[in-house]
Amino acid sequence: MKLLCISGSPRGKSSNTLKLVEEALAGATEVEPDISVEQVHLGELHIEFCTGCGACHKKLLACPLKDDIGEVLKKMLDADAIILASPVYINQVTAQSKVLLDRSSPFVHCQMLRGKYSAAFATSGGGPHEMVPEYLKEYLISCGAQYVCGVSAPMSGMQEARKKARALGEKLVRAVKEQKTYHDQLALMQKRKAFFKPVISSRKDEWKGEYDYWRQKGWL
Ligand SMILES: Cc1cc2nc3c(=O)[nH]c(=O)nc-3n(C[C@H](O)[C@H](O)[C@H](O)COP(=O)(O)O)c2cc1C
Repeated sequence: MKLLCISGSPRGKSSNTLKLVEEALAGATEVEPDISVEQVHLGELHIEFCTGCGACHKKLLACPLKDDIGEVLKKMLDADAIILASPVYINQVTAQSKVLLDRSSPFVHCQMLRGKYSAAFATSGGGPHEMVPEYLKEYLISCGAQYVCGVSAPMSGMQEARKKARALGEKLVRAVKEQKTYHDQLALMQKRKAFFKPVISSRKDEWKGEYDYWRQKGWL
């Protein structure tokens, strides 16, 4: 089982949010000692802003920008479970996190993370924090990944959050092992597919790569 953790904190190993992720990983390996874990720190990579050129829709995930995003997206496609972690920066995810989401837009158009499981973690200095896992949940479900749960906390709540994070790590691995079904999320994915179907069909030439993906999946 491959578990990929992507941190959007610019503070690398000193990240508070990463402490929650590490707790989750401890829980995960307790359930499944053979699990393969990989951590990606977006702040250490060279990742540029999306320019909106549309190349990734025309040829699936192809991007003219020469940077590290392709490797990260490949790792996401290869994982069984994905953890997204971000501190709260001005009431939202960090820019490092947001740029990853922007650069992965075919994941959303084609629900390319179908069959995977996910979770999200966030910390704030002291202000509201729940909106970050909620936002990441929305993104992950849009990509087709079932969302197991999220844990977030202000600095003052880290002790309690660590316990929750550990439990979530265990739950995430169990969800993968048992191939758990979250019916409400699958229904939401179906609804999104119904929304995208005419869009993908009408942009057949412009978004050829995505159109072909839909055809291969038998969704058109
Ligand atoms: C640019 C910036 C913006 C921030 N915005 C908020 C905020 O809106 N609300 C809040 O409670 N904390 C805010 N913080 C504090 C961080 O969310 C907090 O320190 C967090 O635990 C950092 O996580 P990390 O150690 O994983 O990077 C901000 C910090 C920075 C540097």
